[in-house]
Amino acid sequence: MTPKKILFMLALLVITYLFIIFILYKVHKTKDITLNSNKGLKVWLQHKCYSCHKIYGLGGFLAPDLTNVTNRLSFTNFSLLITEGTINMPKFLLSKLELLYLFSFFKSLEPSKNLR
Ligand code: HEC
Repeated sequence: MTPKKILFMLALLVITYLFIIFILYKVHKTKDITLNSNKGLKVWLQHKCYSCHKIYGLGGFLAPDLTNVTNRLSFTNFSLLITEGTINMPKFLLSKLELLYLFSFFKSLEPSKNLR
């Protein structure tokens, strides 16, 4: 084998290695998101957000449907809204982690342009 060929083989090996690492990272990330959104669902149920809000059109009628809320609000505004409340919505003293879980829960919902 010429040195050039050896170099080529080594490069190929490194590229394959990086590709596998990339795939593993992606799978890990997807799992993380699923886990977080499951925890977010728990926060949603535990604080009974559904008594006022709907997702997919199901739930209370006092407040906006939250199916597409992550298209409308950034995480910062979302967090502020929940922890500060508004005239119409009571404030919830959730931890940063709980807010992140909730946000990934809403992010995991199928987007639908018809609901508001
Ligand atoms: C007592 C009824 C009530 C409960 C319970 C409630 N909300 Fe709300 N929420 C509202 C109302 C009413 C608004 C509209 C606020 C406004 O326009 O002032 C709102 C607005 C919001 C918004 C902004 C929606 C938008 O489209 O801008 C988010 C996000 C939100 N609520 C999340 C939550 C979460 C998460 C929970 C549970 C932890 C929750 N709410 C519990 C009444 C409620």
